[in-house]
Amino acid sequence: MSMVPCRVVILGGKGTAVNIAEQIDHAYRNYQYPMTVEGFGIDDPGLGNSIAGFPVICGLHDAWPKYRDTQVQFIFALYKPDVMERRVALLRQLGIPTERYANFIHPTAYRSGSAIFGHGNVILSNASLQHNVRLGNHNIVNSNVVIEHEATLSNSVFIAAAACIGARVAIGDGSFVGLSATVREDVSIGAYSFVGMASAVLHDVAPRNTVYGLPASTKS
Ligand SMILES: CC(C)(COP(=O)(O)OP(=O)(O)OC[C@H]1O[C@@H](n2cnc3c(N)ncnc32)[C@H](O)[C@@H]1OP(=O)(O)O)[C@@H](O)C(=O)NCCC(=O)NCCS
Repeated sequence: MSMVPCRVVILGGKGTAVNIAEQIDHAYRNYQYPMTVEGFGIDDPGLGNSIAGFPVICGLHDAWPKYRDTQVQFIFALYKPDVMERRVALLRQLGIPTERYANFIHPTAYRSGSAIFGHGNVILSNASLQHNVRLGNHNIVNSNVVIEHEATLSNSVFIAAAACIGARVAIGDGSFVGLSATVREDVSIGAYSFVGMASAVLHDVAPRNTVYGLPASTKS
């Protein structure tokens, strides 16, 4: 391997955070992807000092003081559908400069050369990001997701596995799109919205709304 791998601390330690650690390790071992997992930063003592074979190396708020003066980079992976706004607030409280967050794109994912990324984005196996897709910072795109041409994810958007985001769709900060949901082209999804699994979203979704079903509608 010619490049020195980037070492990353994953902030989180459950669910998708573990998937991300395993996919980074898989990419490093099988595709010489230049990234290794330093360990998890998480506050839950119940998780012990190792998760899926990766060490728990610090608490959430210790991560920046501990690694500030190193080359280590970070990935924020603490999203949960019902608490997105709180988790985005937590991300800000950690005080880690945006440019210290790494992008990870699994080598089996497709990213158009015209797709533009900020920092801290994660694209898992077999996802496809088509022409002129735009991602801000801290977005998580799970396995087998398709993001069609000119769609945009703002910041801290979580797209669960196998969702399909149509052309020119715009998804606002902190939104969560459930497993296998489909969003029609040109639709806008407002900030901190929640799209239920397997939904077909045909119309714009106002900020902080939950929609689901076929076709998706707002539920009280
Ligand atoms: C939309 C959602 C939040 C609703 O959860 P909930 O509030 O616990 O709702 P319930 O399971 O009690 O279901 C309430 C009703 O909505 C229906 N429903 C629930 N989710 C639905 C969905 N995604 N599409 C269509 N109908 C749905 C149920 O059948 C039920 O209908 P009924 O009252 O006629 O029996 C949830 O089903 C969902 O889609 N979560 C996302 C899961 C996901 O993608 N996780 C990612 C993991 S990485």
